[in-house]
Amino acid sequence: MNMLPWSSDHPPLMLAPMQGLTNDALRAYFIEQAAPDLVFTEFVRVHKQARKRIAKADLAEIAAHKAAVPLVVQLIGNSAEALAEAAARVQEAGCRHLNLNLGCPYGRMTTGATGGELLRDPAKLIELLTSLRQAISGSFSVKCRAGYDDPQQIFQLLPQYEDCGLDYLILHPRTVVQKYAGQVDHQLTAEVVARTRLPIIANGDINDAATGQRLLAETGVAGLMLGRGALADPLLFRRIRGELPGQVAEAQRRRELADYIENLLERYPVKFCGERQALMKLKDLLNFIPDEGLQRELKKLKRATTVNSFRTLLDRFFSA
Ligand SMILES: Cc1cc2nc3c(=O)[nH]c(=O)nc-3n(C[C@H](O)[C@H](O)[C@H](O)COP(=O)(O)O)c2cc1C
Repeated sequence: MNMLPWSSDHPPLMLAPMQGLTNDALRAYFIEQAAPDLVFTEFVRVHKQARKRIAKADLAEIAAHKAAVPLVVQLIGNSAEALAEAAARVQEAGCRHLNLNLGCPYGRMTTGATGGELLRDPAKLIELLTSLRQAISGSFSVKCRAGYDDPQQIFQLLPQYEDCGLDYLILHPRTVVQKYAGQVDHQLTAEVVARTRLPIIANGDINDAATGQRLLAETGVAGLMLGRGALADPLLFRRIRGELPGQVAEAQRRRELADYIENLLERYPVKFCGERQALMKLKDLLNFIPDEGLQRELKKLKRATTVNSFRTLLDRFFSA
């Protein structure tokens, strides 16, 4: 049985989970404008205490997903029992596709090791994955770093990832201790592809169409996951697919940014129940727009205190 949450007629392009950013309103925007093949929730914390297991708001957001684009729920936690129960609740809420976070470098912020910290105890990790697999009827994947502090660790784990019944694996080829520093090593991604039967999804620093297209053509990956590059340019999905030009001139870039932010300016006050919170969330997103030539204008936008003044500045700086 094919457990993959994408059709096999083209390599899937996925929107990465990004805590604090890829909420349902942003995902809905991406689905409408950029048509990713798959979207992920921000990580959903799984608490050890049964009473708190998953936040009600997380479950409500999962249950509300009605788009044709499949939603993958990403769990973060470390107790086999708690994760299995959380998986059951997520499936009751209507989502069949689950993913476990093995990449977050800030795992000590929760009680006990989670995320990338789980790579420090491979035996326990594999036990955890094997038991979680039993609790999931749809697809089960992990999103992992290449290793905790050694990028070659992935090669020891690969056969075990296969044996414990993963359907695919998303690889961010940095180590956990590296956090976001240094270069991603997609040469390593290609080596992983060559040494496993699992479909591998490449993630990390895919910030322009040429990089995405090259990875698809040269590494044998099954698909791509876009994170910060997609926040900076949601149309990157369509550029990688060749539906839009790979690069745009500055005037066009400003217009596209204006449409993007303007659209979120409509959605966020509804999502976040009020202007102040909506503006805060929008400003967080602006931090991921790296264009050197726009930083002065972005800085001024970040000082706006009302939606109206924000919109006025947006029109002045970015609209044609
Ligand atoms: C602000 C922020 C929040 C993130 N939150 C998550 C998360 O909830 N779950 C996860 O697996 N990865 C998370 N990540 C990692 C991204 O999904 C992705 O793996 C990483 O940014 C590398 O890909 P990129 O270079 O395309 O951004 C986060 C990254 C950032 C920058």
